[in-house]
Amino acid sequence: MVKICCIGAGYVGGPTMAVIALKSSKIVVTVVDISTQRINGWNSDHLPIYEPGLDEVVKQCRGKNLFFSTDVEKHVAEADIVFVSVNTPTKTHGLGAGKAADLTYWESAARMIADVSKSDKIVVEKSTVPVKTAEAIERILTHNNKGINFTILSNPEFLAEGTAIQDLFHPDRVLIGGRETPAGQKAIQTLKEVYANWVPEEKILCTNLWSAELSKLAANAFLAQRISSVNAMSALCEATGADVTQVSHATGTDSRIGPKFLNASVGFGGSCFQKDILNLVYICECNALPEVANYWRQVIKVNDYQKTRFVNRVVSSMFNTISSKKIAVLGFAFKKDTGDTRETPAIDVCKGLLGDKAKLCIYDPQVTEDQITKDLSMRKFDKDHPAHLQPPSPSSIKQVSVVSDAYVAVKDAHGVCILTEWDEFKKLDYKKIYDSMQKPAFLFDGRNIVEVNKLREIGFIVYSIGKPL
Ligand code: NAD
Ligand code: UGA
Repeated sequence: MVKICCIGAGYVGGPTMAVIALKSSKIVVTVVDISTQRINGWNSDHLPIYEPGLDEVVKQCRGKNLFFSTDVEKHVAEADIVFVSVNTPTKTHGLGAGKAADLTYWESAARMIADVSKSDKIVVEKSTVPVKTAEAIERILTHNNKGINFTILSNPEFLAEGTAIQDLFHPDRVLIGGRETPAGQKAIQTLKEVYANWVPEEKILCTNLWSAELSKLAANAFLAQRISSVNAMSALCEATGADVTQVSHATGTDSRIGPKFLNASVGFGGSCFQKDILNLVYICECNALPEVANYWRQVIKVNDYQKTRFVNRVVSSMFNTISSKKIAVLGFAFKKDTGDTRETPAIDVCKGLLGDKAKLCIYDPQVTEDQITKDLSMRKFDKDHPAHLQPPSPSSIKQVSVVSDAYVAVKDAHGVCILTEWDEFKKLDYKKIYDSMQKPAFLFDGRNIVEVNKLREIGFIVYSIGKPL
């Protein structure tokens, strides 16, 4: 029996290990974390993250060949393969603050692996890390020179939240990078056999370590760049009378471009796109490539511009003031089918609206009031962000209420902002909503999910991203 231990029971560690356990009955998988609350969640009926299909997978193998534990050292010591899937956020202080990846959690995990290991191990980088991290990790792993062989692999994860289980069941590819030495190649083969339990062989790509590390940053940068490209086009569409949905469709039917990931929006969010591009920018700067750094930095600048543009549109259309006006915010998560709010565009948009003294009534099917309040009170790390995106004062937080029903949120509102593309927002009774709102009733669709003409027939003044006004 191969024993796998995964350090970090988060959005990646939990679902990935659950799927490995489900697909490989001969492997025992233990996911460990320093957070007792998270591990208790994984061992309960209320998993700590919301992800469609995850409950069923966990229920099928938990207690059989899938375990969750806080006894980090014991399970690491016993494992043949150790995945490290800890968080790698952006540094908030010191050298590289606001850009570089903070590898504190990674380093402490690596030191612990070195300290507790009594047998040879394959150590797998699952977290997204700067290129060349494996070199540093190798040095940490061998720092106490106990004569144990650690072989490091890079196996970045490409799942997206909300579709994690399907992405893991049917990945476009699994990427494994290793040293071009006999030990490195043997370790690649061992990990390949784990994935081969359900992933077709031609989809398992093997590269050198640095290519695997950099490919992950490249993939996220390319994806985010597509969104910033279409969002930049959306501004031009609004200025010219073109319709961004038509432009995306016409552009995406070119087989070299492809139709996916071309939805204009209020901006991309999520824990990784911004962090990984900032990390890429920092690596370029450290390698004396300022032009390349600036190229990628622009992807984030356009994203910030898109959020600012949305806030400005709300204020300017509502007669240049939203002071004391009730604005209903539908959706707070960074995308549908997740309760995750990390870097959600809703945070910046809400802060912008509060900056203009609006009263916000927020509804999201998966995000709690506590989380929303916490998100709106937090400071943004990046000094480069526009001032109006800084946290509102405690008094303006009082201007925020969180409710558990979309119809309650919109009652007596002057305007509605749709910030997440939850399916339930497409099915709302917009006539009923219109009737319960102040007039004129404004609707700002940050996700292009409503039927603009139908809503205009009802009487709404509708603003959609990149559509004729
Ligand atoms: P997360 O914050 O949800 O989970 C990380 C977990 O690691 C936390 O529960 C934390 O308590 C734990 N942890 C930190 N240090 C630890 C230590 N020393 N020992 C034990 N546990 C420790 O993060 P995530 O979203 O799962 O992301 C993890 C990594 O995967 C990041 O590098 C991220 O960039 C990458 N990634 C994330 C996604 C995604 O969709 N969220 C997708 C692909 C890759
Ligand atoms: C993204 C990548 O898609 C994953 O491959 C990657 O593994 C992951 O980041 C990561 O490294 O963390 P995720 O952030 O979970 O996954 O979700 P996406 O579906 O990529 O959406 C990101 C943001 O872009 C969301 O706010 C979404 O609403 C927005 N988006 C997406 C658009 O605005 N338009 C689109 O066409 C697509």
